[in-house]
Amino acid sequence: MRNCFILFFLLLFGCGHPNGETGTETLARKDLPAVKQKGSEITGQAFNTLSSNLKQAMSEGGVAYALEFCNVKAIPLTDSLSQYTGIEIRRSSHRPRNPRNRADSLEMKSIREFMARIEQNEEPEPITYRSKNTYIYHAPIKINNGLCLNCHGQPGTDISEQNLALINKLYTEDQATGFSIGDLRGIWSIEIPKTVIDSLQAAAN
Ligand code: HEC
Repeated sequence: MRNCFILFFLLLFGCGHPNGETGTETLARKDLPAVKQKGSEITGQAFNTLSSNLKQAMSEGGVAYALEFCNVKAIPLTDSLSQYTGIEIRRSSHRPRNPRNRADSLEMKSIREFMARIEQNEEPEPITYRSKNTYIYHAPIKINNGLCLNCHGQPGTDISEQNLALINKLYTEDQATGFSIGDLRGIWSIEIPKTVIDSLQAAAN
């Protein structure tokens, strides 16, 4: 059954234009700049919130404390950012730590595209899609910093035995170790209602 769904989505999305402008429907071209701008604004804000919280937790109590902190706070933090405008924001991954963050089929399509770019030594650019009443914005999250390796790098070398044990205790299905600097760790996945983009356009005119 699951395979069936995957095949269905492959058929649905598999032949999109390589820059992802086609999703379930063609993105209205006039909306594209507003979607990209809003998407990058939101991911920028979310990234700043999460990374300043992470740095603060690490300086307060080290990696183990930060692990517990991320476990409890990461999803509520991204949720709280999405609440006020009806915009949904999440992080997702092909190798998730938290199973709630497992990439869906459309997210996997973007992940494959980002990984192909990275393999060519190019900087992957965000991808946008349009579904019925929403725009979808996917932006790459790379392991860009030695800090990340404390919790997502090689077990035994980057990740201490003690912290690894804690990770495995908190996340029994963890798949998010073994990454190196420059690897794609996952994506920001944002859904913006079309009405939000329409009102931005109206305000700009
Ligand atoms: C202190 C340990 C720690 C550090 C350092 C850390 N992470 Fe994570 N990361 C986690 C935990 C724990 C989760 C699962 C959070 C949750 O339950 O949603 C996670 C989840 C993620 C996710 C969401 C997808 C998933 O696998 O669940 C991404 C993307 C991510 N981290 C990227 C990064 C990047 C990039 C860095 C470096 C800037 C980083 N992390 C640094 C502990 C850490």
